[in-house]
Amino acid sequence: MRLNKFLSTCGIASRRKSEELIKNGEIEVNGKVVTNLATDIDEKKDVVMYKGEVLKLPSSFVYLKMNKPKGYACTASDEKGRKTIFDLIEDKSVRLFNIGRLDYDTEGLILLTNDGDFANAVIHPSFEIEKEYIVTVEGKMVESEFAVLRKGVVVDGVRMPEARVKPISFDGKFTKVSVVITEGQNHQVRHMFDAIGKSIKLLKRVRIGSVHLGNLYRGKTKPMTEEEIASFKK
Ligand code: URA
Repeated sequence: MRLNKFLSTCGIASRRKSEELIKNGEIEVNGKVVTNLATDIDEKKDVVMYKGEVLKLPSSFVYLKMNKPKGYACTASDEKGRKTIFDLIEDKSVRLFNIGRLDYDTEGLILLTNDGDFANAVIHPSFEIEKEYIVTVEGKMVESEFAVLRKGVVVDGVRMPEARVKPISFDGKFTKVSVVITEGQNHQVRHMFDAIGKSIKLLKRVRIGSVHLGNLYRGKTKPMTEEEIASFKK
């Protein structure tokens, strides 16, 4: 089995992220650091280590959805020592990783698994999985601003991908907007609103593909349903 596939199947990270770990010299096979991405291993005989731990293939896969609160980092260990989404998971018996990321100050739906192929099907740009966000901004937004967002704003000379943007409500103080994107460039939604001079009060992801956040409480996780899991495997 390819080393990156082995790592993702062990729940270390998605396949692409696993390749980075290999390139960075963080993986040992039979006591030697390997950096060759084309390394094949015999999972029955070879001993693969990451951070001093011998890796084993999991006996079953886990798929969770979480309502990430603001103020949590989407990483296994935060270099600034901040709270992470893994602090919110009570059952630590299975090693999981997050599929994609939300910013520290963004809340809402994030998926976790130990199935690298599944993670790949959710995040790989070629599958064009939709992500929907509810953005709360200060003040009333006007149609010309929505038009700019839809077309794709330019940030540092680079045009952000087009987005589906729809007003939801204005309560006299804040406008709520639905934004649907398929790419996941870093801070994409924040860049879009920065570019039109709107300050985001709250950014919340409410949907990934056909998986909805629903009424999951902040900070809570729950297993994805069979249908939700299957919806990414089409
Ligand atoms: N876009 C952002 O700007 N931040 C997120 O957390 C997700 C999408």
